[in-house]
Amino acid sequence: MNIQPSTSKTILLTGGLGFIGSHTAVELIAKGYEVVIADNLSNTRIEVLDAIHRVSGVKPAYENVDLSDKATTKVLCAKYNFDGCIHFAAYKAVGESVESPLKYYDNNLSSLVYLLQNFTEQGKSNFIFSSSCTVYGQADEMPITESAPIKPAESPYGNTKQIGEEIILDTVKSTQNFRAIALRYFNPIGAHESAELGELPLGVPMNLVPFITQTAIGIREELKVFGNDYNTPDGTAIRDYIHVVDLAKAHVVALTRLLEKKNQSNYEVFNLGTGKGSSVLEAINAFEKVSGEKLAWKFAPRRDGDVVQAYADTTKANHDLGWKTELTIEDAMRDAWKWERKLAGKGL
Ligand code: UD1
Repeated sequence: MNIQPSTSKTILLTGGLGFIGSHTAVELIAKGYEVVIADNLSNTRIEVLDAIHRVSGVKPAYENVDLSDKATTKVLCAKYNFDGCIHFAAYKAVGESVESPLKYYDNNLSSLVYLLQNFTEQGKSNFIFSSSCTVYGQADEMPITESAPIKPAESPYGNTKQIGEEIILDTVKSTQNFRAIALRYFNPIGAHESAELGELPLGVPMNLVPFITQTAIGIREELKVFGNDYNTPDGTAIRDYIHVVDLAKAHVVALTRLLEKKNQSNYEVFNLGTGKGSSVLEAINAFEKVSGEKLAWKFAPRRDGDVVQAYADTTKANHDLGWKTELTIEDAMRDAWKWERKLAGKGL
């Protein structure tokens, strides 16, 4: 698919200095888009802007704004003539959301509402929302299609994704010509192959791959594998691990689809995954294979709220978006390891 825009379009990337946002900035710039990043640095660092510059050759416009502030968001949307928005900015720590639900509802939902208010009031459209496979909970059937039922959310974080999708759907229904896409990510992992961009977990990582690479580099003593008694071939839980660069490219395709009005309805939902499930032990094996490191790990009890398995049916994204993943879990582990070593200052 040729996704080179004919004229340069200005795209607002909220949370554009985060893990997925920064990789998406690079892919958008590569396709000729003008990128404006809005990020309040609540979960990342300003140095990521320079890294985007080094990788893409372009330093995007940057605004340090808190989108959960209504007046600030209005000023931002008045300052630029946005042709579209990819809304990544959100809190995403499941455990923290259980402890501080109002912090999550306030931040994740108010920013979304204010952005939508400004976009619709200005007659603007082309809105991409970062959603999550967490909306499916433990789906009854594998692989998971987009029509699988939405299960009651396990956490306030998950609920903000479900409610966010509903807010967007209602906005589409009530606003002529407002087009939006919700992208339900499975498990994004990896880093940019240049090792300029990657995940920057604050404190002890909750997600599997940062914990693996931090253990291998010596920051953590050992990885706990949560649960070995699941009803899966090796007893450990299964997820669909997608390389962040593949995921970033899907955003460019989805945005271009809206800008070119190729969407089939004004609100569409796509699963973004590889379609392949990997167990925790398979993920560890993939890491050990590409890194040549032996990982210290042991079995531990199941983690509260974890589903047994979740992997995507990618038929809709493959067919309608004309997008599919090109990188494997091994590519992702190799890049995540390169990134961890870069962070540790141990060279490449
Ligand atoms: C988690 C969130 C999900 C969110 C996603 C964002 C939960 C229950 N789910 O997904 O809502 O959208 O992050 O990135 O928190 N594991 C270990 N040891 C570890 C860490 C993880 O064995 O130290 C296992 C987990 O039990 C799971 C798998 O690795 O089976 C993946 O875990 P993780 O990376 O945290 O992702 P999810 O839990 O799938």
